[in-house]
Amino acid sequence: MNKFSRLDYFLNIGYADSFFEYWLLNPGISSKRLTRELIKPASNIIGKNILVVGAGKGGELKLLNQLTGAKIIGVEPHEYNVMHARELVKKEKKSEEIKIIKGIAEELPFPDHFFSCVYSCEAAFHFEDKKAFIEEAHRVLKDGGVFIVGDITKKSNRLHNKIIDDYKAMLNTKKFFTRDDYLTVIKDTFRKRPEIYDITDKNIKHLVEGSKLLIKIFEFIEKFPLLKSKIDRSLKKRKLDLSTFLEDIRTTKLSYEKSLMEYLRIICVK
Ligand SMILES: C[S@@+](CC[C@H](N)C(=O)[O-])C[C@H]1O[C@@H](n2cnc3c(N)ncnc32)[C@H](O)[C@@H]1O
Repeated sequence: MNKFSRLDYFLNIGYADSFFEYWLLNPGISSKRLTRELIKPASNIIGKNILVVGAGKGGELKLLNQLTGAKIIGVEPHEYNVMHARELVKKEKKSEEIKIIKGIAEELPFPDHFFSCVYSCEAAFHFEDKKAFIEEAHRVLKDGGVFIVGDITKKSNRLHNKIIDDYKAMLNTKKFFTRDDYLTVIKDTFRKRPEIYDITDKNIKHLVEGSKLLIKIFEFIEKFPLLKSKIDRSLKKRKLDLSTFLEDIRTTKLSYEKSLMEYLRIICVK
């Protein structure tokens, strides 16, 4: 098998209108749908350029290029992901149109007024300084350029508690932004109010519905050795042990049921 399996090209939790669609579709398809949904406000930037911050393994770069015809530059800090994304671009013969640069959101290595769109999907929760990211995005955007973010955020009115701390550990996040944080920082930086939509029902909700099923299945897993070995193999590939995996499922479920987290889609035109 190819050392870069196809599904690994996307690293987001996807987007679907229903639970069945979410779980019956190949997960790569719901990830692609998230990209399609997020980029819609910039669909008229044909022939221009998009900066993708937190580019992951490159699937998103290829799809954004296909959808908009724009030149794409991805910024990604992790060497393995950079290598993976470059491999994909090479394989697709897209080296003229898609470039990947090793770097971080907080210090974008580009001149002012350079991009038609700055796009970041499910990466900002990792950024240590989200304010610096927003200021950098504003700096590198042309006037009229579109800033688009999909991010997992803490509900504005929720105090920190153990579940949120577990969620932070699970997602390797120092601090979540809230809807109010985004509103304040974008308004201060762009001098405009962003559009913010809650799309939790398109992904986290489906994940949680699925997790309830998984928790049930795990109660009887010893009765299904084939399924167990399949799950064991998949966990090994992701370097996760079973108890951490089950803990992660419970954290996601609890945070949703207690309405602590949300998935926001944020748009602001410079
Ligand atoms: C969940 S993945 C999403 C990848 C891609 N956007 C996708 O949807 O397939 C988050 C990515 O953000 C990257 N990342 C983490 N910290 C970052 C930073 N400070 N600046 C830019 N990217 C960062 C990670 O390495 C990872 O590839």
